Amino acid sequence: MKRKHLHTLGILVGSFAAIAPACVFAQAPAQLSIQLDKPLHPVSPMLYGLMTEEINYSYDGGLYAEMVRNRTFQDHGFGGLSHWNLDNKGTARSTIVFDGTEGPSAALPGSMLMEITAADTSNLAGVRNEGYWGMALQSDTTYKGSLYAKADADNLPLTVSLVSDNSGDTLATASIGSVSSTWKRYDFTLKTSKLTSSSTNHLLIAAGHTGKLWLDLISLFPPTYKNRDNGNRSDIMELMAGMQPKFLRLPGGNYLEGDFIDERFDWKTTIGPLVDRPTHRSPWNYQSSDGMGLLEFLEWTEDLKIEPVLAVFAGYALKGDHIHPGPALTPYVEDALDEIEFVTGDTSTKWGAVRAKLGHPAPFPLKYVEIGNEDWFDKSGSYEGRFAQFDKAIKAKYPNLQTIATMPLKRMKPDVQDDHYYKRADDFFAFANHYDTVDRNGPKIFVGEWATREGSPTTNLGAALGDAAFMTSLERNSDLIIMASYAPLFVNVNPGGMQWESDLIGYNAASAYGSPAYYAQVLFGEHLGTSVPTSSITNGNDRLFYSVTNDAAKGTTYLKLVNASSKPQPIKAAITGATPSSTATVYTLSGSTTAETNSITDPKRITPVKSTIKTAAKFEHTVPPYTIQVIVMGAK
Ligand code: AHR
Repeated sequence: MKRKHLHTLGILVGSFAAIAPACVFAQAPAQLSIQLDKPLHPVSPMLYGLMTEEINYSYDGGLYAEMVRNRTFQDHGFGGLSHWNLDNKGTARSTIVFDGTEGPSAALPGSMLMEITAADTSNLAGVRNEGYWGMALQSDTTYKGSLYAKADADNLPLTVSLVSDNSGDTLATASIGSVSSTWKRYDFTLKTSKLTSSSTNHLLIAAGHTGKLWLDLISLFPPTYKNRDNGNRSDIMELMAGMQPKFLRLPGGNYLEGDFIDERFDWKTTIGPLVDRPTHRSPWNYQSSDGMGLLEFLEWTEDLKIEPVLAVFAGYALKGDHIHPGPALTPYVEDALDEIEFVTGDTSTKWGAVRAKLGHPAPFPLKYVEIGNEDWFDKSGSYEGRFAQFDKAIKAKYPNLQTIATMPLKRMKPDVQDDHYYKRADDFFAFANHYDTVDRNGPKIFVGEWATREGSPTTNLGAALGDAAFMTSLERNSDLIIMASYAPLFVNVNPGGMQWESDLIGYNAASAYGSPAYYAQVLFGEHLGTSVPTSSITNGNDRLFYSVTNDAAKGTTYLKLVNASSKPQPIKAAITGATPSSTATVYTLSGSTTAETNSITDPKRITPVKSTIKTAAKFEHTVPPYTIQVIVMGAK
């Protein structure tokens, strides 16, 4: 049977029988009972969300659509000039060095100095940038660029071009005109004609005159998601939208904290014009351009129509530096209050006005503020005191905000506690009942980072099964667990792009794809439901997991089944309290081995397949081996 793509996420339409292996019922039927008229508790409406940080080239070389790598010459290698190379044509002669004494702003006090000793209009002296493992170009597309430049004498003519690595052909070109002897920003556009899409291209900046030329903040963007300036890649945004997330935890992760306090995500240095952002080293060992600054994070939430969950720096850095609670911590607490005001304040407030001046007068919604990240690493024992100081100040100014602690506290009960889990699939199978018995009088739970770590660079089907087993427990316990976000979300799959194995979404310069675990997130996110009815299952195999949610307003019931065993699992279902529709839609994510996976060259090997089954108050159904299914039933 021919499979047909249903929509861009790659859900396939086909007969379920076409993908199910011949069913030899080696396992006894499991008995599933669902009592739709006996709701237990609501499903948390914010259950599934996103967590990202600058790791694995998530923003630079990833979501943030900037094409020029090391645009401000602050990368560590080659004296600051990594990813830049001389490109002198014919008799042209020049050298490049990093000049720490000349820059366009206080934030960027250094730049690249090009000394051109021989050049004319037929022999251009140039410098090229290789991009983030290439520069992906499409036909008939306009790329918007800008650079800061200064020459030692007025009127140094400059051109910028996009050039094919393989053929050397110029694919788009623009004249900057003449560079003046004071720092100025020059804007340009590069428009391609018909071409074969590829990422084996580079940016060339070339001069046809001798002299000294300083260059900085050289930037080039393709069309971005919702056409935002300084915006995001559309393909990666669309993959995230497909997960139907409800929130974004930002800006980390370790990236919030930094290895040292002065390498934290210092939000005030990430807002405003790019030329005023000094950039900073991320704990994942590369320089962050900070093009993805606080306002860009917030605009990302706006574009996906989701809420930020704001993590504020809480006085602890990864290598152990910490600030004791008390007066020394006060400036950090005030900084967090300023940050919350930047996010939520109206234009009459100091930081709300700053946000408005930057082009966003409307405040952003905010319910949750997380104080720190993984503070159990702070062996000084200062977290409880630090948390209390932040919490008191935040609640005094913003009584409606809920605060999140990053570890269990002994002396106070936070509103929410953030739990993190990185496990193998087996361990998640064994852990799937953990929250069933957790005290409901304690804090609400935010599972702010979690993932089954199997597969590299992106996760495989085995990981998707571990994830789905865990997600059934998140749904069942969503009276307690209010939010959960998988991590890490992104990886650039090029050599050297990955610092953390087993990620959800992979990409290179040209394309992006979802892992099998990504499609598990899509299936669960798309079929959340609003309440959890009473249900039970008996006689299933040890690797059978399920959850049932209901959406009474829609008259729809979602039955999620995870068979992580190697054998088909028959199920006898009995539904009471409402009459199920006679047919139901089934979304099936399945493969023949747990190692099966998607990749940049085979991006849709494992994707959901859509089919239908017959349903009734009592019906039988078999879940194939290594399979996640969502059965969507009408029920009145
Ligand atoms: O997700 C990768 C890292 O794992 C996060 O930065 C950190 O919070 C956790 O230890």
